[in-house]
Amino acid sequence: MEKIVIEGKTKLKGEVTISGAKNAAVAILPATILVNGVCTIDNIPDISDIKIYCDILEKIGVKIKKIEKNTLQIDTRNITSVEAPLDLTSKFRASYYLTGALLGRCKHAIVGMPGGCKLGARPMDQHIKAFEALGAKVETEQGKIEVKAKKLKGNSIYLDIVSVGATINAMLSAVLADGLSTIENAAKEPHIVDLANFLNKMGANIIGAGTDRIRIQGVKELKNEGTYSVVPDQIEAGTFMLAAVATRGDITIKNCITKHLEPITAKIIEMGAEVEDLGGDAIRVSCAKRPNKANVKTLPYPGFPTDLQPQMGVVMAIANGTSVISESIWDSRFQYAEELNKMGAKITANGKVAVFEGVDKLVGAPVFASDLRAGAALVIAGIVAEGTTQVYNVQHIDRGYENIEEKFAKLGAKITRVKEI
Ligand code: UD1
Repeated sequence: MEKIVIEGKTKLKGEVTISGAKNAAVAILPATILVNGVCTIDNIPDISDIKIYCDILEKIGVKIKKIEKNTLQIDTRNITSVEAPLDLTSKFRASYYLTGALLGRCKHAIVGMPGGCKLGARPMDQHIKAFEALGAKVETEQGKIEVKAKKLKGNSIYLDIVSVGATINAMLSAVLADGLSTIENAAKEPHIVDLANFLNKMGANIIGAGTDRIRIQGVKELKNEGTYSVVPDQIEAGTFMLAAVATRGDITIKNCITKHLEPITAKIIEMGAEVEDLGGDAIRVSCAKRPNKANVKTLPYPGFPTDLQPQMGVVMAIANGTSVISESIWDSRFQYAEELNKMGAKITANGKVAVFEGVDKLVGAPVFASDLRAGAALVIAGIVAEGTTQVYNVQHIDRGYENIEEKFAKLGAKITRVKEI
C-alpha cells in the first residue's frame, strides 16, 4: 500500500499538460470490440482503470500492443469469449460497457456487475431498458448481467434519467443493429461526443451526440482500421483549475478543450479567480486573493460536473464566507467533508447538501480518500494546508489521474509517494 505525503502551503505555479480523458477512454476501449479489425488509439491515459480494461479485453481474445506509453494498438478480430471475468469487472464502473459492446458484436454478453466509486446507489435499469428496446433478453442474477438477442433491431429509447453510462451502452448496442435507433433524453458529456466521433471514424452512422437526441442508423459492420486520439480530460483540467484557485496560484493548463471547462470557468470567475483563454488548447487560471463564497449545484453536462464537486469543496472550505453545494447526481458524495474537517474545515454535510463555512486556513492531517475525486480533493487540500498531510487509499486516485504527484510537483508542490509500513 502507498500513501501520498504533502508538505503544504504552496502556491502552485507553472504549466501542466492534461492527459486523455479517463471516461472517454473507458468507453472507446470496449467500443473497439465493435470494429472487428485493428485500430490504434492514442492519448490513452496511463491509469489503473485502463490497465484493468486491457486485462479484461485480453481475456476475451482481444490482442493489445502498447506502441507507446499512451498509444495502444487493439486487434479485435478474434473474440474468443462473450463472458468477461467477474473478478476484474467488479474493480471499476466502466466495465459495464462490455455489455453493450459484446451484445452489439456477438449478440450475447455475460458481464459481472460493475464496481467503481461508492457514491450511493448506482442502478442499471436505464441500460437494461435500452438493451430490451433493441430486442435483447436481459437476466440479472448471481452478480451478473446476461444479455442475448437473435438479432438487434433499431428502436426509440427514451431514458427516464439523464445517464452517461446508459447513453453509452445504448449507443454501443445500437451501432450494428438493423435500422434506426433514437436515444431521447441522452447525456451530453464530452466523452459521449468523443465515443460517437470514434465510432463514426470506424464507419458508424451516429448524429446528434452532444445533444439530448442521438440518432444511430445501424450499419452492417465497422471496418475502418484507423487511428483515433482520445479527447483531453475535462475533469483533470478542472481539478488543476480548482487547485490554482485553492492555493492562490497561477497555472497554465495545456492540452484542454476550453469549451468543456465553461461551467468551471464561470464559477471560479464568480469566486474571484482570473481565467485567460490562451487560444488553441490552453487556459491560464490565477487567483491573487482569498476566493469568495459561492453556491454550486451539480448537474449533467453542461452543468457543473459532480466529478469536480469535491475539488470545489476544498476551495469553498477556505473561501471568504459561507458556501453551499447541492449534489444532484449522487446520494453519497460528501464523504470527503469529514476528512477536510480533520484539517480544520467547517463543513456540515446533510444528505445531498453541504454547507461550507469558510476558514482562514487548513492544517495538515492524516486523511483517507473514499473515492477517486475525493482523493484528488484531499491532495489539493494538503497543498493548501499548513504542515504535513498524509493521504491514504491512493489506489482510488490512481484509477483516474496519470502521474498525479509528478504533475503537482512540477507546479511546485512538495509531494511524494511513499510505501506504507
Ligand atoms: C459517469 C461517470 C462518473 C460521473 C457520472 C455523472 C464514467 C465511467 N463515469 O458515471 O464519473 O460521476 O457519469 O457525470 O463515465 N441512474 C439510474 N439508472 C441507470 C443509470 C443511472 O437511476 O440505469 C442514475 C444514477 O444513480 C445517478 C444518475 O443516474 O444518480 C447519473 O448516473 P450516470 O450518468 O449513469 O453515471 P455513470 O455513467 O455511472
